[in-house]
Amino acid sequence: MTFLPLLCLFVRLNPTSSMKMNWCSTTWSGHCCEATFGWTYHFSNQTMNWTQAREWCQAHFTDMVVIQEQAENDYIVSILPNKDRTPYYWIGITKNHINETWRWIGNNSTWVGEHSWAEKEPNNKHVAEFCVELYVNNRSNRGKWNDETCANEKSPVCYKAQCNDTSCVNGRCWETINNTTCLCEPGYEGDKCQTAVECPPLSQPGNGDFHCSPGGRTFRTTCRFKCHTGFVINGSSDVTCEANRTWSDPQPFCAAVKCPPLPQPADGNHSCSDEGQIFNSTCHFKCHWGFFMMGSSAVTCAANGYWTGPRPACTSNYMWSKPFVLVEIHWDAI
Ligand SMILES: *[C@@H]1O[C@H](CO)[C@@H](O)[C@H](O)[C@H]1NC(C)=O
Ligand SMILES: *[C@@H]1O[C@H](CO)[C@@H](O)[C@H](O)[C@H]1NC(C)=O
Ligand SMILES: *[C@@H]1O[C@H](CO)[C@@H](O)[C@H](O)[C@H]1NC(C)=O
Ligand SMILES: *[C@@H]1O[C@H](CO)[C@@H](O)[C@H](O)[C@H]1NC(C)=O
Ligand SMILES: *[C@@H]1O[C@H](CO)[C@@H](O)[C@H](O)[C@H]1NC(C)=O
Ligand SMILES: *[C@@H]1O[C@H](CO)[C@@H](O)[C@H](O)[C@H]1NC(C)=O
Ligand SMILES: *[C@@H]1O[C@H](CO)[C@@H](O)[C@H](O)[C@H]1NC(C)=O
Ligand SMILES: *[C@@H]1O[C@H](CO)[C@@H](O)[C@H](O)[C@H]1NC(C)=O
Ligand SMILES: *[C@@H]1O[C@H](CO)[C@@H](O)[C@H](O)[C@H]1NC(C)=O
Ligand SMILES: *[C@@H]1O[C@H](CO)[C@@H](O)[C@H](O)[C@H]1NC(C)=O
Ligand SMILES: *[C@@H]1O[C@H](CO)[C@@H](O)[C@H](O)[C@H]1NC(C)=O
Ligand SMILES: *[C@@H]1O[C@H](CO)[C@@H](O)[C@H](O)[C@H]1NC(C)=O
Repeated sequence: MTFLPLLCLFVRLNPTSSMKMNWCSTTWSGHCCEATFGWTYHFSNQTMNWTQAREWCQAHFTDMVVIQEQAENDYIVSILPNKDRTPYYWIGITKNHINETWRWIGNNSTWVGEHSWAEKEPNNKHVAEFCVELYVNNRSNRGKWNDETCANEKSPVCYKAQCNDTSCVNGRCWETINNTTCLCEPGYEGDKCQTAVECPPLSQPGNGDFHCSPGGRTFRTTCRFKCHTGFVINGSSDVTCEANRTWSDPQPFCAAVKCPPLPQPADGNHSCSDEGQIFNSTCHFKCHWGFFMMGSSAVTCAANGYWTGPRPACTSNYMWSKPFVLVEIHWDAI
């Protein structure tokens, strides 16, 4: 976590101060609390109607407080100064119309706890009680809610979020009362989700090379393999680093180009280099005793997959083994 602890949680506003004043430098009461990493809660002793209270919260903090569970309600009650009579505190739940559901500001959540309302509340006593106050006193309704007319003046309770748009680089900032965490998108890690995960290093293939997009071997990097002349790729030529730290495909390898099979000539034989009939292997031909070779005595498998020449033939006729004989035969045939 790189969040700075907040020095002062609760700011006591001078009740006579103007709402537009620079509250931070002039109203610290020196009431400091333990460091927190999540939402901080703030209030003013100055009372105002609900609309003004929300505006005050938005001007100085994030918004009027949003309560989403009983523990949060209890915590907020525990940190607010007691009052022995109304006006108490405004909280951020409201409605616009008598038949509407109570909704929290911000995300329209409708959370209401089983024991949230004070006894016999909400009673809508004045027909248009569309805002909610929080009792913070020493009586049995401590921590309970009461519906109230929005025009009444009460103390605002606000929260300040520690999360903002830049808190998490590749993730969502998740905030609770006392914790702020970046929930990273797949493929990212780190306090602020600032680091792309890495895939294992790739090795240079025999008889080939590879080049990667910027990032080397991090999430979303693609590496392209190429084989040297005379070799063909076996496998996928492009591999991409996935969020689960594995490459999208196994690393390919470069296999030597194969030339078509070269059968033994009649009345002769051949011997090829160890690797067989693949790129760069040369086959040497020999004719049996008494036979003569017609054509080149060696052929090599070329990069294009063809032999450098035709297979020679073995003939018993010496004359036929000479090129000019072929020419003579050619002439005879005419
Ligand atoms: C705010 O109100 C509380 C409770 O009434 C009181 O204890 C506190 O001193 C007040 N703070 C200021 C700054 O007036
Ligand atoms: C609210 O709903 C009740 C019953 O559904 C209806 O009688 C009443 O007229 C509604 N009030 C308004 C202001 O719409
Ligand atoms: C909450 O509800 C109001 C009115 O129905 C709507 O205008 C607003 O966009 C909603 N806000 C969110 C965050 O859903
Ligand atoms: C509404 O926002 C609060 C924080 O402001 C959050 O705790 C809660 O989970 C949200 N509720 C919904 C339904 O999104
Ligand atoms: C509330 O009650 C506690 C003990 O129960 C007491 O110490 C405190 O002074 C009371 N506060 C007020 C404002 O009555
Ligand atoms: C709150 O006060 C302002 C300024 O005095 C006023 O314009 C507004 O109508 C009031 N809102 C309510 C709901 O009473
Ligand atoms: C956003 O929040 C981070 C901590 O989460 C903080 O360091 C940064 O200063 C904040 N930025 C703004 C513009 O508030
Ligand atoms: C803060 O977190 C601790 C555990 O980390 C928990 O025991 C405590 O109840 C939390 N406080 C609030 C107000 O939720
Ligand atoms: C904050 O919440 C995250 C996720 O739930 C957890 O991993 C982390 O330990 C918490 N930090 C503190 C200080 O409680
Ligand atoms: C790729 O290599 C595998 C294993 O060596 C082999 O079975 C397969 O036939 C080769 N594929 C091609 C297209 O050469
Ligand atoms: C990694 O993720 C990819 C794509 O989401 C998936 O196809 C693959 O099976 C996963 N591999 C492992 C080892 O989980
Ligand atoms: C192919 O043969 C040539 C000539 O002998 C040699 O220079 C070259 O290094 C060989 N290439 C491979 C990949 O074996």
